[in-house]
Amino acid sequence: MGSLPLEAMMPLNPDSFAGESSAVVDFLADYYRNVDKYPVMANTQPGTIRKLLPEAAPELGDSMDRILDDVQRDILPGLTHWQSPSFFAYFPANASTAGFAGEMLSAGLNVVPFVWTASPVATELEQVVVDWMASLLGLPERFHFKGGGGGVLHGSTCEAVVCTLAAARDRALSKLGHEGILKLVVYASDQTHATFQKGASIVGIPPANFRILRTSANSGYGLTATIVQRAIEEDVARGLVPLYLCATVGTTGLGAIDRVRELGHVARRYGTWLHIDAAYAGSAAICPEFQGHLDGAELADSVSMNPHKWFLTNMDCCCLWVANPTTMTDALSADPEYLKNVGTASKMAETVDYKDWQIALSRRFRAIKLWVVLRRYGAAGMRAHIRRHIQMAEWFEHVVAADERFEVVVPRNFSLVCFRLRPRFMADKAVEALNRDLLAAVNASGRAFMTHFVVDDKFVIRLAVGGSMTEMRHIRAAWELLKEKANDLIAT
Ligand code: PHE
Repeated sequence: MGSLPLEAMMPLNPDSFAGESSAVVDFLADYYRNVDKYPVMANTQPGTIRKLLPEAAPELGDSMDRILDDVQRDILPGLTHWQSPSFFAYFPANASTAGFAGEMLSAGLNVVPFVWTASPVATELEQVVVDWMASLLGLPERFHFKGGGGGVLHGSTCEAVVCTLAAARDRALSKLGHEGILKLVVYASDQTHATFQKGASIVGIPPANFRILRTSANSGYGLTATIVQRAIEEDVARGLVPLYLCATVGTTGLGAIDRVRELGHVARRYGTWLHIDAAYAGSAAICPEFQGHLDGAELADSVSMNPHKWFLTNMDCCCLWVANPTTMTDALSADPEYLKNVGTASKMAETVDYKDWQIALSRRFRAIKLWVVLRRYGAAGMRAHIRRHIQMAEWFEHVVAADERFEVVVPRNFSLVCFRLRPRFMADKAVEALNRDLLAAVNASGRAFMTHFVVDDKFVIRLAVGGSMTEMRHIRAAWELLKEKANDLIAT
């Protein structure tokens, strides 16, 4: 046996910890310095990494330096570079030094705070930061712990939606009896994230009871009360029970905005649970000029947003607030003897055990990450960060609208611009093919990465601004790139 395995088996050696970890930090600093030199979208054939790496795990350990060399050589080429300043696809997952530092603290401390006793400060810091966030977004008192509600940090909106659906379901079934599940109906728009249908099917809503309501250009593809009211009335007339309505502020495809207050009134009228999904655009609500989109939130039962998208908090972090936490804990609590709190906490009714607010038992200390972000940049810094991206998107929308060969397909909300190339006198089918080719050419160039959406049979290209390192020059370069590829395509 060589000496390496034994040496490696001091896996948490305080003396080598700093050296090995700082090698990783130096590696990442270098990566960020050069990230704009890689093709933004991975230019890799399927199966590449499997061919490169051995079939079995190594028998002997290796040095961190050699591992980092392999990361550089084998891993980086297969990455799509989400932190590239020219990444405009999906929505951003913007990272920051503070987000990274917070993630390091969370990873390094590595506690598992499922009940209060398992790490009291992790639970309480989470309560503090979700209350802070609720205030920053201007959410009503009822979503704060001091207002009788409260928040929790999940890994993703999908989990948040599943948990609130389970809460709503059990609240309804406690009156209807278990067989009542066949009567429960859920409502969303044709712009709602696919996660919602997945969540509804996970909690046992019959597929025939998913109502996907059509939106149109008239409302900017936002859901309005009239259409929801009509659908609910029809269901009620058939003896069904309107369980849950998912409203979105800033939809994934187009950044559309559902009318929260209107929808809230309808939901209240029928005792329907209203959830507001503000995964992406929720971050903008820290700026007073965008808070109006959450107006009416006091009529909702739950709200969620993802700091890991646009709030400089490295993956993963989703804030979920509920007005009535008991509905959640009734649905999600499991209380085996071995997890009971000990000492004073066992007697305190108000102690939060976050295992009862989520799907899994295990959980991460995410609160410290969000806390470090908020401490490091402050609310003012975060507002400046959001406004900077919005200004860049505004500029892009402007130049697209001013170029007669292009069109902005839906008016911009927040930092997402949806547009297409639309040469005059070209048939619709040809326009679609042209835009598919344009997007493919842009992405193949490696100089930017954008994704698409289809609305009313129009193939649109999405430019989502939000990278931490994105500057005006990158937006200008993206526009130049689009024009260059458009010229090539139109000329041929
Ligand atoms: N939820 C985003 C989408 O559907 C993807 C995403 C995940 C973006 C995580 C950023 C961070 O487009």
